[in-house]
Amino acid sequence: MLSIGVDIGGTKIAAGVVDEDGRILDRTTRRTPATDPELIEDAVVDAVRELQASHQVVGVGIGAAGFVGSDRRTVVFAANLAWRDCALADDVESQLDLPVVVENDANAAGWAEYRFGAARDSRNMLMLTVGTGLGGALVLEGGLVRGEGGFAGEVAHMTAVPDGQWCGCGRQGCLEQYTSGTALVRSARRRARTGHELYAPLLAAADGDPKKIDGPLITHLAEQGDAGARALLAHLGEWLGFGAASIAALLDPGTIVIGGGVSAAGDLLLDPARDAYDRHLTARAHRTLAPFVVASTGNEAGMIGAADLAR
Ligand code: BGC
Ligand code: NA
Ligand code: ZN
Repeated sequence: MLSIGVDIGGTKIAAGVVDEDGRILDRTTRRTPATDPELIEDAVVDAVRELQASHQVVGVGIGAAGFVGSDRRTVVFAANLAWRDCALADDVESQLDLPVVVENDANAAGWAEYRFGAARDSRNMLMLTVGTGLGGALVLEGGLVRGEGGFAGEVAHMTAVPDGQWCGCGRQGCLEQYTSGTALVRSARRRARTGHELYAPLLAAADGDPKKIDGPLITHLAEQGDAGARALLAHLGEWLGFGAASIAALLDPGTIVIGGGVSAAGDLLLDPARDAYDRHLTARAHRTLAPFVVASTGNEAGMIGAADLAR
């Protein structure tokens, strides 16, 4: 039985035909139309139709970066996108002759990692996706945790700093403002603007224009040993480990999977996260440390998980 998984990201929409073992048989992408929810729906429909033309599929799963209602059809709210009470499943279904299920993007990714990826042997897992936003997914006792209204696992909006940075959700001090791709780039640009010598190589690599600094550039420089880029990733990783320790106090995960674009930095991000996790975890001397691992389905996690949830 094949299904189609769609991951709606900030810059691109990735769609793929996925089999029951989580293998991607075919794929296509569209650019994410800036901020118009209707244009996003059209692009999703278009991508699905292209794949449908050459594959027999039973349904479509869509991973969306926002608060998805427990009916798994509506994106109620999104901190970083224009969705407000968007009937995503209804709208897409009405243009296709296939059942559609919507899931939070990070939940979809976490589900893929639990079913087929780095947490396949762990009945209790936490996934954190570090991209435009900070995504969270919890699988406890083998089940994806959705909560009363569908909004469980919104780790992005746990308070990290009272009265801290403003967040797209309308509050201040959310964890996402300190650990996400957006936070990484923002602090890199700020530091580059100060003229501090530690960040001079990064600024030079961006042709002297702080606005040209992006996540891949920071990771690239860090991999080459640049101290400034490494410091930026380490700072992000510390926040990640700090947040994970709070979540672990509540839920005691057995494995912590890190995904999203910034996870491409690997141990340059994960080592500082492990360290901070170790320092902030309660009853540390009396428990086993959950391992931090990079998502093994990589950037494909959201697509694979959404497809599996549609079956
Ligand atoms: C949103 C989540 C989403 C995450 C990753 C957060 O800002 O609130 O719903 O899963 O970003 O895209
Ligand atoms: Na989530
Ligand atoms: Zn927030």
